[in-house]
Amino acid sequence: MCGKISFCLLVSLLLTVSLAAPHDHEDHSADHHQHLHHGKDEPHPSHDGDDDLSSRLTPHNADFAFSLYKKLAGLPDVQGKNIFFSPLSISMALSMLALGAKGETHSQIFSSLGYSALTPDQVNEGYEHLFHMLGHSQDTMLLEAGSAVAVREGFKPLDKFLKDAQHYYQGEAFSVDFSKPEVAVQEVNKYIAKKTKDMITDMVKELDPDTMMMLINYMYFRGKWKIPFKTGRTTKADFHVDEKTNVTVDMMGNTGFYKFYDDRSNFSSIIMVPYKGKASMMIVLPDEGKMQDVEKNINKEHLKYWCDRLQRSYVDLFMPKFSTSSAFSLADTMKEMGIVDAFSGTADFTGITEAKNMKVSKVLHQAVLKVDEEGTHAAAATTIEMVLMALPTMPLPMKLNRPFLTFIVDHSTESILFMGKITNPTA
Ligand SMILES: *[C@@H]1O[C@H](CO)[C@@H](O)[C@H](O)[C@H]1NC(C)=O
Ligand SMILES: *[C@@H]1O[C@H](CO)[C@@H](O)[C@H](O)[C@H]1NC(C)=O
Repeated sequence: MCGKISFCLLVSLLLTVSLAAPHDHEDHSADHHQHLHHGKDEPHPSHDGDDDLSSRLTPHNADFAFSLYKKLAGLPDVQGKNIFFSPLSISMALSMLALGAKGETHSQIFSSLGYSALTPDQVNEGYEHLFHMLGHSQDTMLLEAGSAVAVREGFKPLDKFLKDAQHYYQGEAFSVDFSKPEVAVQEVNKYIAKKTKDMITDMVKELDPDTMMMLINYMYFRGKWKIPFKTGRTTKADFHVDEKTNVTVDMMGNTGFYKFYDDRSNFSSIIMVPYKGKASMMIVLPDEGKMQDVEKNINKEHLKYWCDRLQRSYVDLFMPKFSTSSAFSLADTMKEMGIVDAFSGTADFTGITEAKNMKVSKVLHQAVLKVDEEGTHAAAATTIEMVLMALPTMPLPMKLNRPFLTFIVDHSTESILFMGKITNPTA
């Protein structure tokens, strides 16, 4: 109870999306503390105010995540398909781009990200702190985020840009021979494959021979379910893609205690499936035929509304075992969201090079999700047997046998790391 109260308080203080199971929050502030003072050799720039630094970004990043989701879900070639992306990775990459942008180019990027009321210092320090918090992998959970600046051989960006990219965005700089596009494609893809542990191996398909520089952001997450699914319980079952289509999936099953809320007035069931460590997969399962209503209206307030109502419940959870990947070319979507000058002749990236001749040509995003009995992209297997407690009457059913929304959330920073819609697990 106490944990719940401090949790709510914390959430309202931070003005953020509340994304965690209350029992994970009893030690939340203690954990924050631990994170902040956990041994890094170099002294961290500030201490007492650290909590505010990245939490200042959180509500804006959540708003950006939902506006972007709505744009992506509306794209013609995405209809009826799965969507999976990392809103945080996109926010990070654009914020790093903003380091080099000036004037209107800069304000458009900031305003699309929702940072208009923040100073560049506040944003940069927020990310510095966020990278620092995310970088603490725990025994069973691995979360890695970082950036890179790939620079054309012979081109020299301003020192300040490279220094800031490195300092605030954990960006490493390396040179690439962009004058040989085939070679450059391979080099860049090799770098991304290494950072994503071979989950994304073919990110860039082709490069313009005029490419001067490429900004890269990556995020890698591996979590093991706090309660693993027993492989023996996985069976073939129907997944109702739409009125006309059923597909057969490997349906995993588990009966146990989860944070759960059945929201009849909004035609959805919500469950928080925790990983070992400080992250969960939050799932929103709209009733049959209600996905469009829910995805049209969903925003960070709804997520908070649901989180506040989650209750420890005895649940019969059925979740498909699946993997999915999405690739997006985001330039048009970014323009629709207000980042226009960055792509045009009026682009001002004089923070990267004094010559006023750089613009953005493409923004690509790719994300891969693998869900199985052990967790989410589980590379090694560990099973913890748990004794059964005295069980209440009937478990509540939660059968993900129709399209659902999924969010991978990090509790230490309250960030939406990944989000998506699974329309067809076999696609
Ligand atoms: C899909 O399966 C359900 C039962 O699992 C059934 O009621 C429904 O009619 C099926 N739909 C189609 C199009 O086959
Ligand atoms: C859910 O229902 C409540 C009460 O009717 C409403 O205030 C809230 O905005 C709804 N949320 C969603 C996600 O539709």
